[in-house]
Formats: sequence, structure tokens, C-alpha cells
Amino acid sequence: MPFVKVTDLAFGRLRSPSLDQAEEFLTHFGLVRTERTTDRTDPTPHVHITHLGPSKFLGLGFYVESEDDLARLAKAPGARGIENIDEPGGGKRVRIADPHGYDIEVIHGQRAPAALPVRKHVTNWGDEKLRRAGKLLRLDRGPSQVKRIAHAVLMTQGAKQKIQWYRDMFGFIASDEVYAGPKDNIIASFNRCDRGETYVDHHTFLCFEGPNTGLNHLSFEVSSYDDLMLGHEHLKNAGKYEHVWGIGRHLLGSQIFDYWKDPWERVHEHWTDTDVLNARTPPNLLPVEEGLASQWGSRPPEAFTIHAIP
Ligand SMILES: [Fe+2]
Repeated sequence: MPFVKVTDLAFGRLRSPSLDQAEEFLTHFGLVRTERTTDRTDPTPHVHITHLGPSKFLGLGFYVESEDDLARLAKAPGARGIENIDEPGGGKRVRIADPHGYDIEVIHGQRAPAALPVRKHVTNWGDEKLRRAGKLLRLDRGPSQVKRIAHAVLMTQGAKQKIQWYRDMFGFIASDEVYAGPKDNIIASFNRCDRGETYVDHHTFLCFEGPNTGLNHLSFEVSSYDDLMLGHEHLKNAGKYEHVWGIGRHLLGSQIFDYWKDPWERVHEHWTDTDVLNARTPPNLLPVEEGLASQWGSRPPEAFTIHAIP
């Protein structure tokens, strides 16, 4: 039994040499600033937190359902006690260092802000040709409108053992695992939250094997293909950000994806339209040749397959 079963990813925590440049990128990317204090900026409570300082990946936050969960996790080896969160939204947390030394914060009781308005996008597609009957589609240009943070991907060595720690602590279950050579040589492990009968994203946390250690990317959901494409065009027109990979549709998770680097090479992904599974779906194992392919769009660039920010 895991110590707790987390319900979702809450945020990624980074450190950046300039809060202005960090906020500028994140605004172009489609986040909205919630608060800036003397030492941090938070676009919406904790989907993305930036501290001032040399570029570094600091850690991740995950939600749990109850304060009892926090009390249980506080007894895990290496866990610090229950703390009040002194950040927008408040709430309580337990922090624990993962096997790489990154700070994992498990959170409960954070106040949610009011929802922001998003573009409405009704399609006349496939069998539902009349959903927009008599109405014209007119889209406002601008950044994507990020709905939520969705998953985080770490590169590591010994991914199989590392992911086991995450499962034992936070209750992740395997959706897909990818091997190279012998079947027990797992090089990528796609994991989702275990919420029983409730359907969740195909993956919330992913570990994959590589020569570097650290954050490979943070990933954010947008509401539609149009929103993703408008965001792509907006970031391209900004003329100062490096495009990494996309647009395409993943095989594992099936998302339509688009990847961009912030000014310090930290990769941020937009996606829309994921597979959702509940705890009934058994784990799947497949070879690397199949597993990391796209359903359409290009394969990942070589540099991205070894990319990690410490
Ligand atoms: Fe991703």
C-alpha cells in the first residue's frame, strides 16, 4: 500500500535569474500572474511557481484528498511534518525529498481561485456537424489559455527504481511502460493517479532513462486544438522563444502536443485531448520503437530525448 494516493499534479517549482523574463514567457505561454512577492511569482495559485535565483528545477506539488493523508505521509521516511503554506491559496503540506533530492510537496486545503474566462470553441466535426449550426466561428488571436498543469517528466538513471519510490509514496499506477532490448530494461514509465473508478489523465508523472538528471518538461492542458494552434502562433510571433517539438499527436496518452523552451531552456508543453483511464485498465508494456512514436507529426528531436534541467 502506498503512503497516500495523490489526486493530481498541483504545480512545478522553478528558480529563474529574472522574474520579469520568467513572467513574460509564461504570459506568452498562456498563464496569468496571481501574485508577485519579494521572492516569487505565482501565475494562478501554484500551477507554476518561480523563485528568483540561478536557473534550477526545485520540485513538484501534488494534491491529496484529506488532512489524514498528510498525517499518513508525515510518517514516511524522510518526510517533514505538516506545515501551513505561506503562499497564495494557503492550505497545508508535507514536504519530502525525492530520490534525486527534489522537493516534493503534498498539499491539502488550498483555496481555489475563481475560474478565468476561456475561448469557447464549438466544432462542426464528424457526426456532430450541427453543433455550431447557423453560427460563425471567429477566434480571438492571442496566447493559449492554459486550463491546468497536467504532468511532469523527469529524466533519471535507474528509472525503474525511481518510479517505484514515487508509487510507494504517492500511489501512482502504471499506464504504459517502454523497454529497450530486454523486456525488463524499462526506459520510460508513464504513470497516472489511482482514483479508483474515477477517470484521470493517462499520465501525471513520468520517469525516463537518460544521460542527464532533472526536469525534462512541465506540461499544461489547453482546451482545444484551436487554442493550442493560436498559442503556437503567438509564441512564434513573439520571436524570442525556441520551439522544441510539435505539433503532433502522441501515441502514449494520445495528446495533441506542442513544446517550447523558456529563456533558460526549461521545456513547457501545451496539449489538448488526452486519453483518460481509471484504475481498471491494466498496465501496458511496449518496445521503444513503438512507444515513443507519434500518431502523426514528427518523432522527438534527438536533443529533446536527452534534455534535462537539473
Ligand atoms: Fe508531455
